[in-house]
Amino acid sequence: MAKRANLILVGFMGSGKSSVGRVLASRLQFQFVDTDQLITQRAGCEITAIFEKQGEEAFRDLETETLRSMDTREHCVIATGGGIVVKERNHALLRSLGVVVCLKADPKVIFERVSRNTKRPLLQTANPKDTIMNLLAARQPLYEKVAEVTIDGSSLQHEQVADRVIDACRRIPDGPLSPL
Ligand code: S3P
Repeated sequence: MAKRANLILVGFMGSGKSSVGRVLASRLQFQFVDTDQLITQRAGCEITAIFEKQGEEAFRDLETETLRSMDTREHCVIATGGGIVVKERNHALLRSLGVVVCLKADPKVIFERVSRNTKRPLLQTANPKDTIMNLLAARQPLYEKVAEVTIDGSSLQHEQVADRVIDACRRIPDGPLSPL
């Protein structure tokens, strides 16, 4: 059966999902959607506030609800939050939406990118470098398990990562980007 015409980006915080996602959307003339943005719109508050007031589990429930609510979307590039894969229930949901692409980056690159902002509650720790290493070790196998395509963008510009994602997706038989 042909895949749904969406690309779903998974990967750690700072792996480039939103930036690369925007480039991909404009190249493919798809709509760019970000699950974190949908959650903050629905909740009417920032992610940090959701974590503070309701806790991480409530945020994870909102992520699952958001994935479920996208079941009619087509021609979208969907950037997801870095923790979307920690709930096993999301794996089938992610795959049912289209082609899942994992964006990978080295811990050093991740640290440089994420240390610029304080909007990621899980990284507000005494030692964010250790936190990144621990979370990455637990999550990287999950991203790669869920994804059909993995691209390491550590030493690439967002545009180059987007080129590689498009090339790899075109090669997936019956994929949304495969030639007719
Ligand atoms: C999270 C990643 C964030 C956001 C929330 C939790 C995580 O998204 O969903 O802060 O658990 O890794 P980004 O990956 O877009 O930073």
